[in-house]
Order: sequence, then C-alpha cells, then structure tokens
Amino acid sequence: MDKFIVQGPTPLHGTISVSGSKNAALPLMAAALLTDEICIIDNIPRLQDIRTFSGVIRGTGTDVTFDEASNRLVIDAGTLTKAEAPYDLVRKMRASFYMLGALAGRCGQAKVSLPGGCAWGPRPVDLHLKGLEAMGYEIRQEAGYIFLKGPDTLPPSSFKLQPSSVGATVNLVLAAVLRSEEFTLHHAAMEPDVVQLCEALQQMGADIEGVGTSVLRIRKVDRLNGLQFANAPDRIEAGTYLLAGIMHPESSITVQNFRLSEMGTFMEELQKTGVFLSMEALSDAPGHFRNLDSVTITAPSKLNAVSVNTEIYPGFPTDLQAQWATVMTQAAGQSHVCDTIYMDRFSYVPELARLGADVRVERDRVLIQGPKTLNGASVMSTDLRASVSLVMAAMMAKGSSDVLRVYHLDRGYEELEVKLNQIGARIERVSE
Ligand code: EPZ
Repeated sequence: MDKFIVQGPTPLHGTISVSGSKNAALPLMAAALLTDEICIIDNIPRLQDIRTFSGVIRGTGTDVTFDEASNRLVIDAGTLTKAEAPYDLVRKMRASFYMLGALAGRCGQAKVSLPGGCAWGPRPVDLHLKGLEAMGYEIRQEAGYIFLKGPDTLPPSSFKLQPSSVGATVNLVLAAVLRSEEFTLHHAAMEPDVVQLCEALQQMGADIEGVGTSVLRIRKVDRLNGLQFANAPDRIEAGTYLLAGIMHPESSITVQNFRLSEMGTFMEELQKTGVFLSMEALSDAPGHFRNLDSVTITAPSKLNAVSVNTEIYPGFPTDLQAQWATVMTQAAGQSHVCDTIYMDRFSYVPELARLGADVRVERDRVLIQGPKTLNGASVMSTDLRASVSLVMAAMMAKGSSDVLRVYHLDRGYEELEVKLNQIGARIERVSE
C-alpha cells in the first residue's frame, strides 16, 4: 500500500495538463457492449478504475485492449456470450453497475451483482431498478444479484428520476436504445458525462432526443454500429488543479486541455475568491482533441471566503466539494460548504483538522474559519476526492506530511504526483 510523503509549503508555478475523464469514459465503455462492431475510444486515462471495468467487461467474453501508452481503448463485443457481472469484480467499483443497462440493452437479460458499499454513506440503486421496471423489464433480486429479463421490444413508457441521478440516467439510456419503442426519462442528469454518452450513442445510430436537457426521449433502433470517439477531458481533475493553484499566495499556474464549457457554475464561484484568471481557447490539436481551453490562475495575496452548495449539473459539483473546503481553510473569514447531493461526504474533515485547519461538520455542511496555518502530520485517505484534498492541504502545510492509502488517488487521478511535482510540489511516493 503506497503513501505520499509531502513537503510544504510549496508555491506552484508552471503548466499542468488534464487527462481524459474517468466518469465520462466508463459509460462509453458500457455503450460499446451494445454493438457487435469494434469501438475505439481515445483519451482514456491510465487509471485503476478503467482497468477494473475492463476486467468486468472481459468477463462477458468481450475483447478489451487498453493501450495505456496511447490512452486508446479498443472494445470488440462481437464475442460477448455471457450476460453476467460477478460480485468479486463489481464490488471493486460501483460504476460496474452500468453492466446492468448495457447487458439489458444488448441481450435482453442480465445477472449483475449489486454494487458494494462506498467510503461514505449509502449509495442506493433503487432508481436504476425502478426505472428499468417502468421500462418493462422484469427485475428479481436474489443472493446479492439482480436478475433482469425483458422482451425484444418494450412498450412505450416513461419514468421520472427523484432525485436526478447520473448513474441511473446512464443505465436507463443503455437499456432503452435497442429495446424500448419509446422511453421518456424526466429529470434526467445533464452532466457532460451523460451528454457525451448520448452523443456517442447517436454516432452509433441510436435515436435519442433532448440530449443536454433534463428530458430524454429514446426510440429503439434495430442495431448500433461501431464507434470511433475521443473521450472528454476530466472536468473534476481540472477543477482540482485550479484549486491547488491558489492554496499558496505566491502560486500562479496554467491548467490546460479541459473545457470551460463543462465547468458549470464552478468558474463563477472561483472568481468570487479574488483570484486572477486569464483564459485561452486552444487551437484544435491534430488527432482527437477538440474545443479545449487553457486557464492561467494566479492566487491573490488574500483569498476571499466563499460559501458554496453542491448541486446537480450545471451547479457546483459534489466531486469538488472537499477540494473547495480545503482551499477555504486559507481564505480570510468564515465560509461553509454544503453538499446537497451526498449529505455525509465529509470524511476528510477530521483529517484536515489533524493538519491544524479550523473546520467542523454540522449536519449537511462543513464550517470553515480561515486563514489558518497548517502543520505537517500523518493523514488517512478515505475516498478519491477526499484523498486529493489531503494532498492539497499537505502541500500547504509547514513541514512533512504522510498521506496514507493513496490507492484511492490512483483510481481517479492519472500520475497525480508526477504532474504536481512538475509545477513545484514536493511529493514522494513510498511503498509501505
Ligand atoms: C456519479 O455517481 C459519479 N460517479 C460520482 O463521482 C459523482 O459524485 C456523482 O455521480 C454525482 O455527480 C461516476 O460517474 C462513476 P448519482 P452516481 O446517482 O451516478 C441518489 C467520483 O468521485 N441516488 O448521480 O452514483 C444518490 O444517493 C464519483 O468520481 C438514489 O437515491 O451518483 C445521491 O444522493 C464519486 N438512488 C444522488 O442520487 C439511486 O438509485 C446522486 O447520485 C441512485 C442515486
């Protein structure tokens, strides 16, 4: 199990590039199961979750080749013979539950393990199951598995997500495009990850209306073609680096190869902190990059304390909640971060307190008083976004810090310490 030894405080200078998005890639990989033709997906990040999901997909007999050096994934589901996703694989990563929608769509039947627990609170899948039943599939739960079956053609139906759910939207779209005469999904998620999935499915021949809105209307087509597609850059990674770039008052960095259009209200909130921003549209690089931006962000001498509430897209993303709270420990004044998506995603708060931050959780929010000098300590990662926040805090803390269990980071940030060290961080990865 690796840990990071981090020296601080370190001002950051230089340019850091954003990799392909994990959360946008996983639905594309599931969509590749809907066709017996080859799917080629570029800009796939070298992450453990991608490798894990590739293993889940291979379990169906599908051929998956991940050329990590070129970030290219090739999926050939022409050899798909087994409509199953076993517990020992699904438990490693919740998003494996996308196999339910993909196998329902491709095979009309599925045996998929319910996802395991999560580092923070319950993450139910009731909306996935109710939506599939509303669509006309038969669902049975036995021994921790979901057994699904349905006819070749499902009658017209509709369903409303309460609350809106990224994962449920992905699963229901995958299950409908080859099977439902007409399926209308209300309160559908509008995250860029979902928009990208729908655009890829349209390229494969699917009939989907309302892409980018909260009402999706899907009409079945008989088959889907293969795909050649460039995966989106990771908007959460971009937001993470922009925030890392203002922790120290002498930092000024350029974050490149992401899309400002996918950042929702995050950039507006960022500007309220008093940072200096200059933005540049990058010319379309040869190959698969398209409409990418580059932002130079410079820390002010004193950050304004800004409170935020997380919301569904295009609101402030819950996946940047921990990183924002961490920056606010250095801002002048009191602020709070309320997570309206996950009420209990605050496991990083006691760890920040160990570094000396003045933070405490009250119900669905964390209250922060800054600026507070941080001092090095040993801290424990508990989930992907909490871990990166602790690395950010350790980079600001005086002296040396150990960030333990960085395997959480390796699930979602490609070469994090390599990229941060290139702009002035002092992070050493040590195997324990
Ligand atoms: C996706 O998770 C992301 N994961 C999460 O990122 C992200 O935090 C989340 O969306 C919200 O944006 C991937 O894309 C792989 P939801 P998902 O269903 O789909 C409730 C990361 O760090 N809900 O949109 O599981 C749920 O409890 C991960 O990369 C139900 O009640 O999130 C939550 O309160 C962490 N019943 C809300 O909806 C359901 O059946 C939103 O969850 C499903 C969800």
